[in-house]
Amino acid sequence: MDKENIYILAIESSCDDTSAAVLHNTKTLSNVVATQKIHEEFGGVVPELASRAHQQNIVPVVHQALAKANIDKKQLSAIAFTRGPGLMGSLLVGTSFAKSLALGLDIPLIEVNHMQAHILAHFIEEENVRPPEFPFLAMTISGGHTQIVLVKHYFDMELLGQTLDDAVGEAFDKSAKILGLSYPGGPLLDRLAQNGNPTAFRFPKPKVAGLDFSFSGLKTSVLYFVQRQLKENPKFVEEHLNDVCASIQHTIVTILMDKLKLAVKQTGIKDVAIGGGVSANSGIRKALQQAEDELGWTSYIPKFEYCTDNAAMIGIVGYLKYKEGTFSDQGVTAKARYHI
Ligand code: KG4
Ligand code: ZN
Repeated sequence: MDKENIYILAIESSCDDTSAAVLHNTKTLSNVVATQKIHEEFGGVVPELASRAHQQNIVPVVHQALAKANIDKKQLSAIAFTRGPGLMGSLLVGTSFAKSLALGLDIPLIEVNHMQAHILAHFIEEENVRPPEFPFLAMTISGGHTQIVLVKHYFDMELLGQTLDDAVGEAFDKSAKILGLSYPGGPLLDRLAQNGNPTAFRFPKPKVAGLDFSFSGLKTSVLYFVQRQLKENPKFVEEHLNDVCASIQHTIVTILMDKLKLAVKQTGIKDVAIGGGVSANSGIRKALQQAEDELGWTSYIPKFEYCTDNAAMIGIVGYLKYKEGTFSDQGVTAKARYHI
């Protein structure tokens, strides 16, 4: 086996995106993502439908990833897959597929923790992108996760805090839904917020100790606020949409930044890497830029395709584990709850 040229086929199926990628060492050759549109009409991910869609998508998505990378499966060094955390029915599809393929090709199988992968996505090689240096703080913010992690080394991570209820992306999406925006409403809310006044309305911030988060109260206060306003003015939402969006976004970004600042204070580490779909948010990007200018932080945001759920991030972890010789056996099973 060629030790210099490692080709990893990676598979991600933890939630509602079926993805396959091929990496040559730390570089992405292909990263194919099939996003399941079916959930839009339900306003959230329906686990049973997600599992079925993964079954339909997985073979074509893997074929496409190999074709785009111009790699024959006989050239592959190993198969990496998301073992968890995620939806059990979704994880099972990727796990079974990866196990069968590794067995058929007689190559190593590598299990990957999805939350570690969101963080290690920063190490995918990209032109003009500098990876963070150890130790650094990582904040993973998406529709499924909200975590702050102390990253001491590739596989030496400590969870410092996480959400006790909704993920931050859900806070965006559920608030957007209350305002009548279509699912997932986060990006739309962000766009409208950019033309609004962030201090027009005030929403209470949750009182949660330490570095944990809570977002379910915010959704409720947005709901009550809108209901109250509509009673007085049935046109309130259309007349004040930008200001309401800006105020919600401002509240969420302040919650995230307050915790990040506390984490920086507690650890003395000013290198902050973010990931997950909410990293696209203009408010969080502006706030991080401000922290760089005023507080001397260095922030890292990967390319957007590596922020949302994708298999390339599974592939980079596969590569790092391959180098270490950390492999899984055929007895490995999917794990819906899987700590970092
Ligand atoms: O990482 P991701 O694609 O999927 C998972 O949830 O794992 O993240 C999707 C989440 C959704 O909640 C979406 O509304 C949110 O990220 N999102 C945003 C923005 N872009 C995506 N939220 C706020 N502002 C954005 N610009
Ligand atoms: Zn994710």
